[in-house]
Amino acid sequence: MKKRSPNFKIRKYFGLIIVLLVLCFLVYKNASDFSLFSTYVPVEPIAVHNNGKGFAGSATCVECHLEIYNTHIETAHYKSTAKANLKTVKGSFTPPKNSFSLNDSIEFKMENRNGLLYQEAFLKSDNQRISSSRFDITIGSGTKGQSYLKWKDSSLYQLQVTYFTSNDSWVNSPGYPSDRLASDRPIFERCLECHMTYAKSTKQFNKRNSYRKSQIVYGIDCERCHGPALDHVNFHRENPLDTVAMHVVKHSDLTRQQNLDACALCHSGLRMRRSKDPFIFVTGDTLNKFSTPDYTEKDLEELDVHGNQYGLLSASKCFKKSDAMNCTTCHNPHENQRGNRVSFNKKCQSCHGKGDGFHGVCTASEASKEASNNNCIQCHMPIVLSKTMKIETSADTLNPVPVRTHFIGIY
Ligand code: HEC
Ligand code: HEC
Ligand code: HEC
Ligand code: HEC
Ligand code: HEC
Ligand code: HEC
Ligand code: HEC
Repeated sequence: MKKRSPNFKIRKYFGLIIVLLVLCFLVYKNASDFSLFSTYVPVEPIAVHNNGKGFAGSATCVECHLEIYNTHIETAHYKSTAKANLKTVKGSFTPPKNSFSLNDSIEFKMENRNGLLYQEAFLKSDNQRISSSRFDITIGSGTKGQSYLKWKDSSLYQLQVTYFTSNDSWVNSPGYPSDRLASDRPIFERCLECHMTYAKSTKQFNKRNSYRKSQIVYGIDCERCHGPALDHVNFHRENPLDTVAMHVVKHSDLTRQQNLDACALCHSGLRMRRSKDPFIFVTGDTLNKFSTPDYTEKDLEELDVHGNQYGLLSASKCFKKSDAMNCTTCHNPHENQRGNRVSFNKKCQSCHGKGDGFHGVCTASEASKEASNNNCIQCHMPIVLSKTMKIETSADTLNPVPVRTHFIGIY
């Protein structure tokens, strides 16, 4: 008879021991999820809105909205403002592409000193350095261009150089003189209002360009469109079984105009009679209570294509004659959809097809449609040169920037 090894008993119960260990682990893990073992620690705000609500920051959304977060960080919105570094600044710091000649006597050179980026101005005659400014903040995703801001104590100013994407080079910032070194242009809250989630003014000595550096939320982030969401984050972290969204505005409960206003805040031109606190509007509010359009019904078709998608769209037949069209009819606010014409054309075809319930089909000749790949937007939402947004590429050339018009029509 074969003798049993001394380990036999251990081997016999080995499976059972493993099962018990796994069970212990699972119990422990779930218990800690439900705060039996660990005490729940609420997220601290990264900034506090003037209305008293806290911002949690998009990094905290990841644990529950990972997919949206992953596509959102690729959008022009998210990249619209950031701390300046070699990754976020689009222009070159390597000779010869790092320089830009302002005029016959002044040249700018962009320098990288141990990761800190500078705009240096030199006199051409004797190569003498006459000014030095640090790049602290980028403004603009760089789709068309990018400008830069610097801190002087708690005040923000714009640098004289701007990066122009279409010719991949440094240029003079729009509106700056080219015959001399400009004095620093202060950056008021209005400018940040359209390009940031939040910036708190210090209101010190009535200076309109002075901010609390610790209360800045870069980029047009989740909470710019959904409102400060600290309470939402803390509620759902504490109550992981609750699947009904709490303490956050629900877009599906809003009217068409409220949904439009959430985008029109920044996409309806400069507007007039604006309320004192630029960041006070939050999604769900009625925009006309905070500011009024700087155009009338009559001007609509004359509006500039830059910055006023709301005005142009609302003048189009598609918009006027359908009762539900808003910006998200065509745009997914969480995705970078630039260049995705298939997706956009499908949106047109969801309303324009043959049969009941549709709003008419295209009456252009088949030949002309084929020649343009049946790309609806190429003919009905063409790219138009802006009358107001112009870039100076050399001393006497102003290049108007091309923008897609939102006046949908027959051209
Ligand atoms: C601990 C989990 C959790 C975190 C963290 C979290 N959420 Fe949510 N959120 C939820 C749940 C649960 C819902 C409801 C189900 C759903 O719509 O996914 C929700 C829904 C939403 C909705 C949809 C509301 C509606 O019904 O229209 C928005 C908007 C939202 N969250 C924004 C945010 C933002 C912004 C952040 C980060 C600042 C964030 N959430 C962080 C759990 C979370
Ligand atoms: C806080 C101001 C603000 C709000 C609110 C806002 N936008 Fe924008 N949007 C901008 C700015 C600024 C840009 C240009 C960003 C850049 O390139 O730096 C932009 C760019 C865009 C673009 C072009 C993206 C690209 O790929 O270049 C689209 C589309 C857009 N917005 C749609 C919307 C829609 C839809 C809404 C509402 C759901 C909305 N925006 C709300 C300020 C805003
Ligand atoms: C430019 C504005 C804008 C930004 C930025 C934005 N959202 Fe949204 N979000 C919207 C709008 C508008 C809707 C409603 C969409 C609709 O009606 O189709 C929405 C819907 C949602 C919903 C509910 C519907 C769904 O798609 O699941 C969640 C959750 C959400 N957003 C979370 C986020 C999070 C998290 C971020 C940042 C990572 C973010 N959003 C950034 C405008 C925005
Ligand atoms: C009323 C809102 C609004 C204000 C105020 C505003 N912008 Fe913009 N800005 C936009 C929108 C919207 C776009 C992009 C879409 C377009 O061209 O219509 C844009 C585009 C830009 C771009 C190009 C981004 C790119 O890569 O395409 C730069 C750079 C820029 N703005 C800088 C500034 C600076 C600097 C200020 C302040 C002095 C400012 N903006 C004030 C709304 C605004
Ligand atoms: C929400 C539905 C809807 C969507 C989406 C839509 N349209 Fe329309 N469109 C309409 C309606 C309604 C009319 C008016 C039809 C009528 O005259 O009765 C219209 C009219 C038009 C006209 C005639 C305009 C004129 O001035 O005579 C053109 C061209 C057009 N649409 C093209 C487009 C294109 C291109 C797209 C995609 C970028 C699009 N539409 C998306 C609903 C829509
Ligand atoms: C009928 C469809 C449709 C609607 C509705 C619509 N858009 Fe667009 N939008 C487009 C198309 C198509 C483009 C071009 C995208 C591209 O270039 O890849 C575009 C581009 C843009 C751009 C970038 C313009 C540029 O040339 O840089 C902005 C900003 C924008 N949309 C904002 C809005 C806002 C805000 C609303 C609501 C007021 C809105 N859109 C409603 C179809 C639409
Ligand atoms: C080559 C340019 C071109 C393309 C591509 C194109 N269209 Fe058109 N479309 C036109 C022209 C031109 C007219 C006016 C024709 C006429 O009646 O004289 C028109 C007319 C229309 C009308 C108005 C019809 C009416 O009854 O008044 C609609 C709606 C329309 N197009 C939608 C679309 C849609 C949707 C697409 C994409 C699937 C598209 N178009 C693609 C050039 C184009």
